[in-house]
Amino acid sequence: MSLPNINPSLTPHWKALQIHFDELIDFDLKSEFSKNPSRAEAFSASFEDIFLDYSKNLINEKTMSLLMGLLKDVKLKEAIEAQFNGDIINQTESRAVLHTALRSNNAIPVYVDGENITPGVAEVKRKIKSFCDQVILGQQKGYSGKSFSDVVNIGIGGSDLGPAMVVDALGFYRNHLKVHFISNIDGDHVFETIKNLNPETTLFVIVSKTFTTQETLTNATTIRKWFLETAPDYAVSNHFVAVSTNIEKVTDFGIEPENIFPMNDWVGGRFSMWSAVGLSIALAIGYEKFESLLEGAGHMDQHFKDTPFEQNIPVIMACLSVWYINFHDVQTEGVIPYSQYLNQFSTYLQQAIMESNGKYVDRNGHKVNYRTSSVVWGEPGTNSQHAFFQLLHQGTTLIPCDFIGFKKSLFENKEHQDKLMANFFAQTEALMVGKSEEEVLSEINQKGMVDKSIVPFKIFEGNRPTNTLLIDQLTPKSLGRLIALYEHKIFVQGVVWNIFSFDQYGVELGKQLASSVLSDFDNLNVSSHDASTAQLMRRYLN
Ligand code: F6P
Repeated sequence: MSLPNINPSLTPHWKALQIHFDELIDFDLKSEFSKNPSRAEAFSASFEDIFLDYSKNLINEKTMSLLMGLLKDVKLKEAIEAQFNGDIINQTESRAVLHTALRSNNAIPVYVDGENITPGVAEVKRKIKSFCDQVILGQQKGYSGKSFSDVVNIGIGGSDLGPAMVVDALGFYRNHLKVHFISNIDGDHVFETIKNLNPETTLFVIVSKTFTTQETLTNATTIRKWFLETAPDYAVSNHFVAVSTNIEKVTDFGIEPENIFPMNDWVGGRFSMWSAVGLSIALAIGYEKFESLLEGAGHMDQHFKDTPFEQNIPVIMACLSVWYINFHDVQTEGVIPYSQYLNQFSTYLQQAIMESNGKYVDRNGHKVNYRTSSVVWGEPGTNSQHAFFQLLHQGTTLIPCDFIGFKKSLFENKEHQDKLMANFFAQTEALMVGKSEEEVLSEINQKGMVDKSIVPFKIFEGNRPTNTLLIDQLTPKSLGRLIALYEHKIFVQGVVWNIFSFDQYGVELGKQLASSVLSDFDNLNVSSHDASTAQLMRRYLN
């Protein structure tokens, strides 16, 4: 079955939501809370250790019921079944979308082109486990007989961002291996990373689904050359492994077949950390904890698949995002984790969300007449409070934000944790309740200030929406759940917007032009380029 193909803007519930938006024009969150003492509980949902409070949103019961109606109109239920069944829902690339199969318990067969893929998934997992165990225990050694101390992941996009984010996020659980990530074709990134590494004790993991990506192949080639400056040729087989679907190209690169960790084309790059692409994660935290990450994600898959939409966390969060983007005309959304470990979470989400849903062509090949993905960004709190929160509180743009916090810290310092979480709760409260003119006046009167000209600058309008995700503790399992939550949110939004979320043709043009610019560097000919680009190239070449 292919995905349903329904223009959401022509559905009854979309139209009803437009009328409803006008009804809510004077909606005031504070008064909604006063009117309805059970508002907080009514707009909350939980699953395992994740609690979502979405009551601080510009919604009422009718909003949610219309949004649920919209999901029926666009046949979300059928779309979810198609995805989990392994149907070819990535139609523009003729592929199934089955990252969920990588974290299921493999008890239920999943068929792609008539073949049960679960035994293959289990086999790759066994290979990852055995390799990681040997490297971590020091049994797998470098060419000079020393154990590995460092791992370098060479990849970009989905072959970098997910693993890099998780390795950072699970820093608390890491073993002795130091894991580095090289992604950018910027040679300074490459040489800065390897400058202090000892080739004798460093393992290189080249990750590229296609094994054709310019950045990864250039970086891998440069690194192999650097490695061979001190190591003998035969040492490449001890020190270089690869993850890819393109076994032929990996072999051509000179990687031994036993050092290849295969992946499948039914896993999209930005959803691939659960496959062998997560090898660096498994090396950093050990295979068992990598399994826990997968398990957490698998639980979220079940929640997404089986829970009624009204209590389904990814579905609720997707609906709220649609409400803001398509009815409030919101263009950007923030994700603010209150954990320094999640420093790279928003960066990772940028690819997952914007490469998936940043599209203006619908499933009929027509230009859409509604917005699709917002711009997603964020930084951990409390740092971000001292950076861009001014704009969240008093700027002219409505920016809905997800706040993500943990009840327990990992090093268990109560003073720090209480202060962190006090900020976490206070910010969403401040964004919602704001501060009125009367409150400001009363404050300055108390201080005995006679000049009242400062008043307008101290007023906070409030009424600014947030979601709060409160999670017990940052563990491999809870992180798996959290990431899978956002993956499913992306899927739901793609279904609503009637776009193909699993291709990425929008990155192709820039790649094509880069290779044309590069060859024109060689022949010193800028004439085929527009005047601005030609001028810049001339300046670079002179
Ligand atoms: O940026 C485009 C893209 O194709 C991403 O979707 C992908 O994650 C990245 O490049 C890397 O691709 P590969 O893993 O094939 O090297």
